[in-house]
Amino acid sequence: MNKILVTGGAGFIGSAFVRLQLREHPELHIVTYDKLTYSGNLDNLRDADPARHTFVRGDINDPDTLGPALEGCDAVVNFAAESHVDRSLNGAADFIATNVAGVNTVLDQARRAGVGRVLLVSTDEVYGSIEEGAFRETDAPHPRNPYAASKAAGELFGTAYGETYGLHVVTTRGSNTYGPYQYPEKVLPLFVTNALDGLPLPLYGDGMNVRDWLHVDDHCRGIDTALRHGAPGEVYNIPGGNERRNIELTRRILELTGRDETLIRPVADRVGHDRRYAIDGAKLRALGWAPRMDWDEGIALTVQWYKDNEGWWRKIKSGEFREYYRRQYGL
Ligand code: NAD
Ligand code: DAU
Repeated sequence: MNKILVTGGAGFIGSAFVRLQLREHPELHIVTYDKLTYSGNLDNLRDADPARHTFVRGDINDPDTLGPALEGCDAVVNFAAESHVDRSLNGAADFIATNVAGVNTVLDQARRAGVGRVLLVSTDEVYGSIEEGAFRETDAPHPRNPYAASKAAGELFGTAYGETYGLHVVTTRGSNTYGPYQYPEKVLPLFVTNALDGLPLPLYGDGMNVRDWLHVDDHCRGIDTALRHGAPGEVYNIPGGNERRNIELTRRILELTGRDETLIRPVADRVGHDRRYAIDGAKLRALGWAPRMDWDEGIALTVQWYKDNEGWWRKIKSGEFREYYRRQYGL
């Protein structure tokens, strides 16, 4: 592969994927294609070498911009999405536009441009909640919130393009991802940056919901493995192997930021809050992938990154985010 188009590459995971590709594949040129919604941020790509990286601002729903950007690309990796569950609970129209119709446009334009491989970045949330054990790729999706439903619908368009047109489409379902440059609406960067400022940490419900934490570089290596070695039409889970209750995560963040439990603010639960996510990663491991980041090290490095990069998150938290935060939490 010589040239890859990364849609949504100015977001959290997409920008980490761009950095990883530029670092590990010196022959590659990367085109980042991004609409720069509230969570897209060119500061996330500040380290990308301009000799090997091009940025195109565009909506994945706009074929007139996307089509030309895809010319000459060997692959497209789609990260572009509305990604926050709480926002989808306040209205799902943008989620359907990007995560369903937008994915269809990516597939259609990839087919027309003769792009050899399409990788759809999806989520473990499509399976829904599981009390015990872990979902495998053969289990039926049972999305339980509008965000997850839109991601599951987008996946189905991928399957359809494979079946109908023979397009090489591979899908990944990653678990809860953490690391540098994550937009601070998500629990981990929200709690870290609030704790650094001595602000309350709004913990939903009883704090006993379980998430499986995956370091962003491990997630990106998993996507890279599926892109290069995955079979067409197949789905690959990417688990972190680090299940934690939200209350445990919160206590760890308080320890690492030197704060105490008086900052925990129990708030009303998220409606339809999925209790536990868990996925089995054997299928991707069989292709040679394994997570490398140890949880204790990963969380410590991540908290340190937010301590060292105050300018990055303060700029975000003083913008559109303030209004969102007030609406969401009334704090
Ligand atoms: P993010 O919100 O940080 O980034 C999304 C990016 O997509 C932003 O740069 C945004 O500007 C761009 N975008 C949104 N709509 C667009 C459009 N219509 N056209 C072009 N660009 C558009 O999200 P993230 O956390 O980096 O998630 C990336 C992908 O990974 C998503 O598909 C998400 O569903 C999936 N995922 C996320 C996690 C997680 O824990 N964050 C876990 C598993 C899967
Ligand atoms: O599992 C993968 C998914 O992980 C991705 O597909 C999504 O894009 C990503 O946002 C994430 O979804 P979650 O809903 O699990 O992440 P979030 O950070 O919003 O919440 C994690 C847990 O923390 C969840 O149980 C809800 C809880 N929470 C969240 C927020 C924002 C709180 O207790 N308080 C909060 O303020």
